[in-house]
Amino acid sequence: MSRLVVVSNRVAVPDPTGKGAAGGLAVALREAFEAYRGIWFGWSGKVAAQPSTQPKIVNRERVQYALMDLTSLDRQEYYNGFANRALWPIMHYRIGLSEFSRADYAGYLRVNRSFANALAQMVQPDDLVWVHDYHLIPLAAELRALGITNRIGYFHHIPWPAPEVLGTLPGSRELLRAITDYNLIGVQTERDADNLRRCLVQELGAVHRKGDVVELGNHQTRVKGFPIGIDVRGFEQAALRSSSHRLVRQTTAGLGSRRLIIGVDRLDYSKGIPERMESFERFLVGNPDQRGQVTYLQITPTSRSEVPEYATLSREVNETLGRINGSLGEPGWVPIHYVNSTYPRSVLAGLHRLSRVGLVTPMRDGMNLVAKEYVAAQNPDDPGVLVLSKFAGAAEQLTDALLVNPNDKFEVAEAIRDALYMGRDERIQRWTRMMGTIRQTDVSWWASTFLKDLAGGKNAGRPRIQVGV
Ligand code: F6P
Repeated sequence: MSRLVVVSNRVAVPDPTGKGAAGGLAVALREAFEAYRGIWFGWSGKVAAQPSTQPKIVNRERVQYALMDLTSLDRQEYYNGFANRALWPIMHYRIGLSEFSRADYAGYLRVNRSFANALAQMVQPDDLVWVHDYHLIPLAAELRALGITNRIGYFHHIPWPAPEVLGTLPGSRELLRAITDYNLIGVQTERDADNLRRCLVQELGAVHRKGDVVELGNHQTRVKGFPIGIDVRGFEQAALRSSSHRLVRQTTAGLGSRRLIIGVDRLDYSKGIPERMESFERFLVGNPDQRGQVTYLQITPTSRSEVPEYATLSREVNETLGRINGSLGEPGWVPIHYVNSTYPRSVLAGLHRLSRVGLVTPMRDGMNLVAKEYVAAQNPDDPGVLVLSKFAGAAEQLTDALLVNPNDKFEVAEAIRDALYMGRDERIQRWTRMMGTIRQTDVSWWASTFLKDLAGGKNAGRPRIQVGV
């Protein structure tokens, strides 16, 4: 039986004590690793004086975790530099924030090559290889150059922009050529799939054949939407049990009769946090009767703080927050509670369930799983309302949310008001339809659909040309 080899920048090695909730990709892969024996390969998260040439192996149950250290220059150029200062903003349509440097790009290619060199020694002929995210776009091309002919899939967790946007990034044509070395490329939405296919056609002269197949020379690849899901049952159950949690009880007591509005996002400019705070300010200015009646809780763990644009954002959020709380707050009421802590799923699920409104208004987002988690955590008899950016991938599926343009503060303010005043019947109807979709496309559906497609794809065994970077 073939093994599953997962490759991602971060690797979630389970805590041997069993404590600490697994997040994101770890949850997604849990069931996949029950079906396949496997390897999870990637960065150890550690910086060492010398880069690893061989991974450090940690065995946990059926999975072998293979961990590579990076040097501080690697981390600076590959992770902070090209991945997070050049690619991330472009992929999120923020051309003006993208900082390209040739040195960073060389570092990005160097780390991909060194990962490929180490991984190629571990891959067996029948293994299915599944690579994740924008840090590792050239990995398949590097593996092909080393003679690896296995089926290799790639999943892009963040948005894929239109050709006019991607084309502004130096080196983007090379990345496009490299991505065609994957047998199957998964993206979050139909819009992303269409954008990537158009990039391949316009920039490389590839031909879009029927459906998801794109042909370059005598080589075919497939580009397809696989909307990622969540562990719906796990989240529902966490929400049901959450009322016993101290933090949830304290929040409930502190609220009194006020209604709660919640936002949960990493501190990232793609999430639209200052814009959202200003929309809430607009709501309070336009609805003075609501002052003192609602509290907006924004939970925002800091992230990527070595990247200058993130430090700038942190200052911007603090200034916006201070200004709004200073100008609209009263002695017994703070309009916006802003916390930078990270909370476990059990607490987040409880806080979502307490909230009458879930504010998920990114400027651009691949999927945004918080939107799905908010819905899954609701009480079916009295659910809250999701206000969702139309630029989040989740908006393609969750059409019963109140869809908004996050750039339009008046529109978001109006949606907050509509959400707070929405009657119970309408809330139940909208929630029921969204919950149906979330259940049907949960995280195990996502992983198994992608892997089935990769394992049995239509172009298995077809001849291919070598297009390395
Ligand atoms: O959404 C893309 C992503 O890279 C996720 O895979 C990851 O969990 C998140 O952003 C956080 O990014 P980082 O690994 O840079 O902290």
